[in-house]
Amino acid sequence: MSEATETTMACYLVELDDQGRAHGRPTSQPLDALPEGDVLIRVAYSSLNYKDALSATGNRGVTRHFPHVPGIDAAGTVVESRSPKFSPGQKVLVTGFDLGQNTWGGWAQYVRVPSGWVVPLPEGLSLRESMIFGTAGFTAAMSVEAILHHDVTPESGEVVVTGASGGVGSLAVAMLSKLGFRVVAISGKPHAHDFLRQLGAAEVAGRDTVNDTSDKPLLRGRWAAAVDTVGGNTLATVIRSTKHHACVAACGLVGGVEMSLTVFPFILRGVCLCGIDSAEWPIQRRPALWQKMAGPWRPNDLETLVAKTVTLEQLDEVIQQILKGEIIGRVLVRPGDEKATEP
Ligand SMILES: NC(=O)c1ccc[n+]([C@@H]2O[C@H](COP(=O)([O-])OP(=O)(O)OC[C@H]3O[C@@H](n4cnc5c(N)ncnc54)[C@H](OP(=O)(O)O)[C@@H]3O)[C@@H](O)[C@H]2O)c1
Repeated sequence: MSEATETTMACYLVELDDQGRAHGRPTSQPLDALPEGDVLIRVAYSSLNYKDALSATGNRGVTRHFPHVPGIDAAGTVVESRSPKFSPGQKVLVTGFDLGQNTWGGWAQYVRVPSGWVVPLPEGLSLRESMIFGTAGFTAAMSVEAILHHDVTPESGEVVVTGASGGVGSLAVAMLSKLGFRVVAISGKPHAHDFLRQLGAAEVAGRDTVNDTSDKPLLRGRWAAAVDTVGGNTLATVIRSTKHHACVAACGLVGGVEMSLTVFPFILRGVCLCGIDSAEWPIQRRPALWQKMAGPWRPNDLETLVAKTVTLEQLDEVIQQILKGEIIGRVLVRPGDEKATEP
């Protein structure tokens, strides 16, 4: 068993001031400060998700304990393992569970986690590519899985994706298009339309398309399925606009957490509302889903989805951008130095 040669690590640390306000900064911490866990991983790449920005700005619904290192995703190389399932030198990834919430996360050169959170890097993906997916891609894949499980096929009709230019949305557009679905991407960014078409969207429309403010319990049935990252009235509109036996995968809340609905979409159209919780998806089921993402569902050009790759020093700006819904695609985080990072 090899051991970490360093005793400190670079990380992005979030601390609270006297007024309880959160402040994040790149710094260095002793490796001993990492939490308990039987696998120590040297992180090559992490990523930026909406949830990370909430954690980094002190949202207590995501992170209760400070000082804290955010980063719900990490991909890297095992350095130490007390689990027989993993060996030093092995390439692995971790997404979700408590990583980056109340367990120090991937915005650091190292993470120490329970082996029950670790997934071997799927064949066909580099560490960098696995983080282009990250939690966003895993969530999109869980949504695709739910839609397929519900027997929706490309022949069933159009699939709508909301918040389409964001991390989850863009990966959902790319994977569904790869699988032959006619995808209608909903985006509030006119300048993202070309990007979404490049990912395979057949049509791109503005947010008004799925924001009906009438009190009609049912609207014209258009969608065979949906991946909703927005929530609120957008989700309510999507549910009221589905065809018979559609599947709506609900995964996000950027547009709101409350919605007004009747039971009619469910009892008159048989709509299935499928909640997506990527953090707690059982570890036993993760490798098979990752293998689909690396194989038949893999978008044609994963690098197209990368908005930028940032260092710990460059995180502040992108945190503010994702909170304002301004990011197009995915932001990768490279916590280590150049030579330790896989190309
Ligand atoms: N359930 C889970 O397991 C899970 C996992 C990952 C993420 N999530 C949730 O999914 C959501 C998206 O996450 P993400 O990481 O993909 O975030 P993101 O990259 O910021 O994407 C969100 C997108 O939503 C759209 N948007 C932003 N504000 C909006 C508003 N007020 N009304 C309507 N649309 C708005 C924007 O896209 P356009 O400009 O293109 O419209 C934005 O790019 C978040 O709520 C996140 O917490 C849930």
